[in-house]
Amino acid sequence: MSSRLRWLGHSCFYLESSGSRILIDPFLTGNPVAPCKASELSADFILVSHGHGDHVGDAIDIAQRCNATVICNYEISAWMEAKGVKAHGMQHGGAFQFPFGKVKLTLAFHGSMLPDGSNGGNPCGFLLCLNEGFTFYDAADTGLFGDMALIGEEGIDLAALPIGDNYTMGPDDAIRAVKLLKPKKVMPIHYNTFALINQDAKGWAARVKKETGVEALVLNPGDWLDLK
Ligand code: NI
Ligand code: MN
Repeated sequence: MSSRLRWLGHSCFYLESSGSRILIDPFLTGNPVAPCKASELSADFILVSHGHGDHVGDAIDIAQRCNATVICNYEISAWMEAKGVKAHGMQHGGAFQFPFGKVKLTLAFHGSMLPDGSNGGNPCGFLLCLNEGFTFYDAADTGLFGDMALIGEEGIDLAALPIGDNYTMGPDDAIRAVKLLKPKKVMPIHYNTFALINQDAKGWAARVKKETGVEALVLNPGDWLDLK
């Protein structure tokens, strides 16, 4: 078995692992940098980090079409179920073994109001320990927090960190995050989707290498990455 990942711009990922198809924060419709349409994607599981529209995105449509299970916090799972979507509710610090690997919800400092104004609980990041033996940490939307050092203790092969600033960490704090997490590799997300979060990702990657020694991968929306 092998696992691979495709970055779909902003905070959206498509992963294949142990025969499962996994989408994270599937924001395609209305995303100016999305490399494909939501209708072109299929999933068995959809992870949603928080209630904001640029993360819930097309989750309901894709989940209904594919009969996928949405993995998210308890509040968003109840909201999904009320719309007829299968959901698996969790909370921070809790982990569960899914067919493709173990998912743990991690802290994130951010908001989580759902698009219709409903209470979306607390935002989260995801620690995915894939069955193939690869650990992926998606910080999702968050500011810097010191407990990233605890998350890093789990041994991260690849970390996805927001660098867009304004709504999340910016480039400087994302470098401090790399120092706390100590991942083998890191990639920037949540930038260049809109003018408000424009950043120089290549320049950031060069700084990461120089200041932390960690390899930073800059993907283009639509690019694939073999994980294991
Ligand atoms: Ni957000
Ligand atoms: Mn966001």
